Amino acid sequence: MWHETIEKNLGLLIVLIVVAISFGGLAEIVPLFFQKQTTEPVDGLKPLAALQLEGRDIYIREGCHVCHSQMVRPFRAETERYGPYSVAGESVWEHPFLWGSKRTGPDLARVGERYSDDWHRVHLNNPRDVVPESIMPSYPWLNDASLDKADPGAKMAALRKVGVPYTDEDISGAKQLVQSKTEMDAIVAYLQQLGTVMKNKR
Ligand code: HEC
Repeated sequence: MWHETIEKNLGLLIVLIVVAISFGGLAEIVPLFFQKQTTEPVDGLKPLAALQLEGRDIYIREGCHVCHSQMVRPFRAETERYGPYSVAGESVWEHPFLWGSKRTGPDLARVGERYSDDWHRVHLNNPRDVVPESIMPSYPWLNDASLDKADPGAKMAALRKVGVPYTDEDISGAKQLVQSKTEMDAIVAYLQQLGTVMKNKR
């Protein structure tokens, strides 16, 4: 019998399992490449400005995404706490996306405009100054690190190659916009735009 041959031949069994699972995966994943809902930006989405883009890279460098997800799941408990659930169209220009899954701290997908810039500065400098029981690490060096040598234009040019609609003016003007700014300015600018495009939606 076929069945017996397959069950007794581990190599063949593995190959056939992989083939079976691949078909399942293809049937689920491939249609998403062609659906507007997953490939088109949501209304009002803007590519990150120069300072925000630098902030995003600092967010990645400091490992913020290791403790914070950016993905509100479609459950009541989540939407009551964080706001509208995340949709694919918010992330079409994210390279790489920072959805994450581990939540040592709260989800940050909707944190933009929830606190003042000053709150974020104090919090990042030493979280315990505003949240006494916080276990989040302090990031005091962000206050001193300058962005004078940063070149967000080069990053924008690279992102444009993968479909983010930066204009020539965005790219040529970018370096100027981060001059005499600090890494703290950048990361706060990044945090303050998170999820704002979904304000007043749904
Ligand atoms: C070790 C895990 C950990 C890391 C790494 C971490 N955080 Fe946190 N974060 C937390 C925890 C826990 C809280 C909740 C307590 C508090 O507000 O400080 C928090 C809270 C926050 C909040 C407030 C969210 C809200 O809705 O109240 C922001 C904003 C934030 N973190 C940003 C950052 C940024 C930016 C970084 C990287 C520079 C970072 N976090 C790195 C654990 C972490």
